[in-house]
Amino acid sequence: MRKGTVAAVLFCLAGPAAAIDIEPLARTCNNCHGVDGVSVGTTMPSIGGLPKDYLSRVMKEWKYDKRAAATMNRIVKGLSDDEIDALAAHFAARRWRPVAQKVAAAGLSKGRAAVRDNCADCHGATGNDPDIGTPRLDGQWADYMALELEKYRDPEFVMPHRKMNKAIRQLEAGDFRPVSDYFGAQHK
Ligand code: HEC
Ligand code: HEC
Repeated sequence: MRKGTVAAVLFCLAGPAAAIDIEPLARTCNNCHGVDGVSVGTTMPSIGGLPKDYLSRVMKEWKYDKRAAATMNRIVKGLSDDEIDALAAHFAARRWRPVAQKVAAAGLSKGRAAVRDNCADCHGATGNDPDIGTPRLDGQWADYMALELEKYRDPEFVMPHRKMNKAIRQLEAGDFRPVSDYFGAQHK
C-alpha cells in the first residue's frame, strides 16, 4: 500500500463519513459500459452523462429488488448506498456522447412518427430532454433500448416507473424496433 493510501484509509476509519475512492470503483464498470460510460457493445447502455438522480435511483431499485435486470441487480448488491450515490455523481459528470447508428430510411420515418405521438412529450423529439428523472435516448444503443422496452411491457418484469409502463403498453409491439432505431440514430 502506498503511503497516501494508508493515510486515506486511516482518515476513513477516523472520519465520520467514510470517503469513497471513486476512480477504482468506477473503473470496474468500464468492461461493460466503456471508458467514461461510453459503451461500445450494442446491448450495453452508455451511462456517462445521464442525470445523477436517474442513475442513483435505478441502481437502488436494483439493490432493493424493486426493478428487474439481467446483470445489474447482482452487481449493485455489494455496493453501499453512499457508493451508489458517488458512482451516480461520477458518471453524471461525464459528457453524454451519442453513438449515432445507421438506420434505413423507412424504419426511421416509422420510428419518428411513433416517437412524436407517444414519447416526445417526455423524452423530447430526439430523446435529449434533460429532465432529471428521464434518461437520454439520443444515440443510446438501439439493441439495448429494444430489450428495455420489452421489459417495460412484460408484466413478468418488475419495472417500477408507472408512466413508462403505461407509455409502452400504448405502443404497438411492431413499433418497438422503429422507435429504438430512431432514437439510436440521433446525434443530439
Ligand atoms: C458485466 C457487465 C456489467 C458491469 C461490470 C456493469 N454493468 Fe451496468 N449494466 C449492464 C447491463 C447488461 C445493463 C442493462 C440492465 C441489465 O440487464 O442488467 C446495465 C445497466 C446499467 C445502468 C442503467 C442504464 C440506463 O440507461 O438505464 C446503470 C446506471 C449501470 N448499469 C451502472 C453501472 C455501474 C455504475 C457499474 C459499475 C459499478 C456497472 N453498471 C457495471 C452490465 C454491466
Ligand atoms: C410520461 C413520460 C414518458 C413517456 C410518455 C415515455 N417515457 Fe420513456 N422513460 C420515461 C422515464 C421517466 C424513464 C425512466 C423510467 C424508469 O426509471 O424506469 C423512461 C425510460 C425509457 C427507456 C429506458 C432507457 C434506459 O436508458 O434504460 C426507454 C428505452 C424509453 N423510456 C423509451 C420510450 C419510448 C420509445 C417511448 C414512447 C413509446 C417513451 N419512452 C415514452 C418517461 C417517459
